[in-house]
Parts: sequence; C-alpha cells; structure tokens
Amino acid sequence: MPTETVYGLAADALNGKAVAKIFKAKGRPADNPLIVHISDFSEIEKYRLVREIPVSARLLADKFWPGPLTIIMKKSGVIPDEVSAGLDTVAIRLPGHPAAQALIKAAQTPLAAPSANLSGSPSPTTAGHVINDLGGKIDAVIDGGACRVGVESTVITLAAGTPRILRPGGVTLEQIQAVLGDVDVDDAVLHKLKDGAAAASPGMKYKHYAPKANVILLKCSDDEYIDYVNKNSENEVAALCCDEDIPFLKVKAFSLGRRSDYPAQAHRLFDELRRIDDDESICTVYSRLPSSAGVGMAVYNRLIRAAGFEVIDLEKI
Ligand code: TXA
Ligand code: MG
Repeated sequence: MPTETVYGLAADALNGKAVAKIFKAKGRPADNPLIVHISDFSEIEKYRLVREIPVSARLLADKFWPGPLTIIMKKSGVIPDEVSAGLDTVAIRLPGHPAAQALIKAAQTPLAAPSANLSGSPSPTTAGHVINDLGGKIDAVIDGGACRVGVESTVITLAAGTPRILRPGGVTLEQIQAVLGDVDVDDAVLHKLKDGAAAASPGMKYKHYAPKANVILLKCSDDEYIDYVNKNSENEVAALCCDEDIPFLKVKAFSLGRRSDYPAQAHRLFDELRRIDDDESICTVYSRLPSSAGVGMAVYNRLIRAAGFEVIDLEKI
C-alpha cells in the first residue's frame, strides 16, 4: 500500500499467520517488529491494541496524525508475537495517504506493514520500486504515485521514561519538542551502535539502505566537497550531491535537490540510491554529511547507514 512516507507491505495485524508471510516475502529477520497502521485514532481502543494510552500519545496524535509519526506504547494481548517480535510494546501509526486509510477501513482490521522493499535495500517510494523488489512474491500493489515524504516515519517510544526518538523522519525533533517539551534522541540515530549494545529499536542494528557501490560521506564545506570529488574522480566515481554542485562536478551527479531544502532531499534520497544501484559502472559515491537540523536528521540517519558509518572529515586532514 502507498503511504505518505514509503510503500508498505501490509497484512492483517491481528493475524499472526498473515503477518508471518510479510517476513517471508521481504526476507526480514524475525526479531524486527512491525508497525501497526490504523485509519482513525479510535481504533486503538476499538481493537484494544495497547494496555493504556498515555496522555503524551494523545497530544502527539492530535498534532501529527494522520502523518509520518509512529508511536510506541505498551502492547495488549491481541498483538501477535509475530508483530511485536517478542517485545512488550507495539508501534502504531495513522498514515496520511488516502489510499492507505481506505485500505485499512475496507480491511476492517489494523494492518501491520514494514516498508515494501527486500530487507537491506532502500525503502520503496514508487510502485515500480515495489515491483522491482517483490514482484512475484506479493499479490498486488496499489499504485498511489510517488510518496510525498520519501523517508520512513519518525518513530518515538512512550513506553519507558522520557519520550525518545528511535528513528527520525518527516516529523522533526523540533516539532515534537514543541508539543512534549523534554524529548531524547536515541544514540543509535546519529552514531554507530557500540558492539554488543542492545538496540532500542531492532531495525537500527541492521546495516540498512546499503547500495552496491561504496558510499562515503565527506564532512566539509561546499567548495571542499566539489574539490575533493573532482580530485578523486578516477575510479567509477559518482556524486550524490545538490543542485548547486552540478555545474562544477566532473563526475556523474545524482542530485537530491537544493542545498537548504531538506524535505526535498528526503523526498529524493531513496530513488537516487536506487538509480545509483542501477548503474553497474559506479564503484564509489561521495556525498556530504548533511546537517542534522529539522528533516535533515532523517537524511543524515539514512545516509550514514548507507555509508556503513564511513565519514571522512576533511577539516581534520
Ligand atoms: O513510514 C513508515 O514507518 C513505513 C510505512 C510503511 O508506514 N514503515 C516502516 O516500517 O518503515 P519498517 O518495518 O520498515 O520500520 C519499522 C521500524 C523498525 O526499525 C523497527 O525495528 C521499529 O520500527 N519498531 C517497530 N516496532 C517497534 C517496537 N515495538 N519497539 C521498537 N522499535 C520498533
Ligand atoms: Mg524498512
């Protein structure tokens, strides 16, 4: 199903057997829990999805639902283990795309849905991406056009102490702070998880969004970026860059949009990573380390994973 973030691979969230088929189609590790999608806030109580609804969940839902925010709460007994992957919590989201809402309403049940990509490849933002990854393994795709946001939802947990962002997305830290005040950002959002450390969100421990080419992030000024890429352009190099860089670059350029336009960069990111994957000749991709302000945090989080946390700090060379 299309959503405003990325396409999701959906099944009846209350049916463990149906949910197990999602894991099979995607090749998803069984210990990575799924998000349960609803079409109206009242369905949380109607289907008794959680033990109780915290006040902070109501505040967030009032402000950001329908929209790209997923809220984790203590789960009730109706959530199959396949959905929660053995955790005592459940992630819930009310998507903004009218086709997703219509599908959930027609199904008359909440829908569990991870991103509709093969595990490890960039999330799909068009119906074509879904077919490329899962054609032959799934029954159908509803084509709802290109996803507006382009990166997955912001995930926040309200299940323990101070609200904590586990994955940044279209709803920003700054927007959530304006509603809740005190909000933490999990260490694993911007840094590599230490060896042996437990992931608050199992999805964060996997190397995600890994294109076939080697992605390297450069921490530098705009001029230094162009200089560095042009000087290192021998071996099948490409630039994942911004519109303003294109006239100056001597290598294949894949632009995410204008330098200051983080929503545009989020919108284009996965499509550009897939286009880079389609070009067999590219071995190395240079991108700059984005700012982590606003929606930039979501771009930063996906890019640093695509790069396997490889950053070259040109200021220190
Ligand atoms: O925008 C989105 O969120 C898309 C669309 C389809 O809604 N869905 C999506 O699902 O991105 P998925 O499965 O690709 O990512 C869900 C993330 C994973 O990192 C997973 O580990 C985490 O949310 N998650 C799900 N339930 C959780 C829970 N109970 N506790 C901690 N993390 C959880
Ligand atoms: Mg995913």
